Amino acid sequence: MGFKIAVAGATGNVGREMLNILSERGFPADEVVALASSRSVGTEVSYGDKTLKVSNLETYDFSNTDICLMSAGGAVSLKYSPKIGQQGCVVIDNSSAWRYDAEVPLIVPEVNPDAISGFTKKNIIANPNCSTAQLVVALKPLHERATIKRVVVSTYQSVSGAGKDGMDELFNQTRAVFVADPIESKKFTKRIAFNVIPHIDVFMEDGYTKEEWKVLAETKKMLDPKIKLTCTAVRVPVFIGHSESVNIEFEKEITADEAREILREAPGCLVVDKRENGGYVTPYECAGEDATYISRIREDATVENGLNLWVVSDNLRKGAALNAVQIAELLVNRGLIKPRSQAA
Ligand code: A2P
Repeated sequence: MGFKIAVAGATGNVGREMLNILSERGFPADEVVALASSRSVGTEVSYGDKTLKVSNLETYDFSNTDICLMSAGGAVSLKYSPKIGQQGCVVIDNSSAWRYDAEVPLIVPEVNPDAISGFTKKNIIANPNCSTAQLVVALKPLHERATIKRVVVSTYQSVSGAGKDGMDELFNQTRAVFVADPIESKKFTKRIAFNVIPHIDVFMEDGYTKEEWKVLAETKKMLDPKIKLTCTAVRVPVFIGHSESVNIEFEKEITADEAREILREAPGCLVVDKRENGGYVTPYECAGEDATYISRIREDATVENGLNLWVVSDNLRKGAALNAVQIAELLVNRGLIKPRSQAA
């Protein structure tokens, strides 16, 4: 017998992708339940070739559900995840609400799978920030080989990272530019169509944004607390796919050729690095794909043992839904969870 899985936030960008990926990868689920707010009750969402009717998260009883994939924002997760966990259902949460809690493992299966065993304290597992997930997939194999000292990352993040409303705003503003309508900005602080905005999430006291802080804190938690990292996070007018310019300083010597070979073999990575026109990946091409693509691998001659990389991935997949489903698969494959229906 298989598992009973709930997807909370099933009407959102990431929730819909979670349902797609569960079906695509043939996750061993006997039953999948779609949950969202009371506003969406009765709405239909797709799960493979099936259609699911959305139920209300607020009134749903989790006592027979094995895993809840949650992507309904931090406030909703803070309110519901502890109660769901107490009912014996493991929450895999896509928000930032639990990521920095010492009793909650933060997992990218290619990077720190063994940390998952700590999930039993709260029955909650956190999924990282979209920018961090693809970054650590690329950094991990290089860190193992040459020990990373410092990383400078600049992100080029698509509007889907800001949810359905972010995608609608880019679409509506782009149309408004062409028909010379007034431009309305609600989701973003400035116009996003034909523009870039160096501001994602709230400002912190030191002048960094919370998004930039998350990349630092999460890389330290998952990969190595000794790594120094500084980040500039920028929203760009791309629908799907986050890109990152990554500058890395290592303790040991490593050439671009060595790094390319290591990354070619590394789990989750796909190297596309021809030093010619078009010999690199752009976010448009990675939408709908699972890999973290790495291009433009080259040595940085301005520091000792330095490399530059261009890292691109589908933020709704590896940055969110795919990673969450991979965490669920890790729980199942390691025998850390059994279908509750079998215990009855
Ligand atoms: P709903 O569509 O009913 O508002 P996105 O990040 O793409 O905007 O998606 C957010 C997801 O989180 C949606 O599925 C949304 O459902 C869900 N959500 C938001 N607020 C709540 C809530 N209070 N209870 C349950 N689900 C919620």
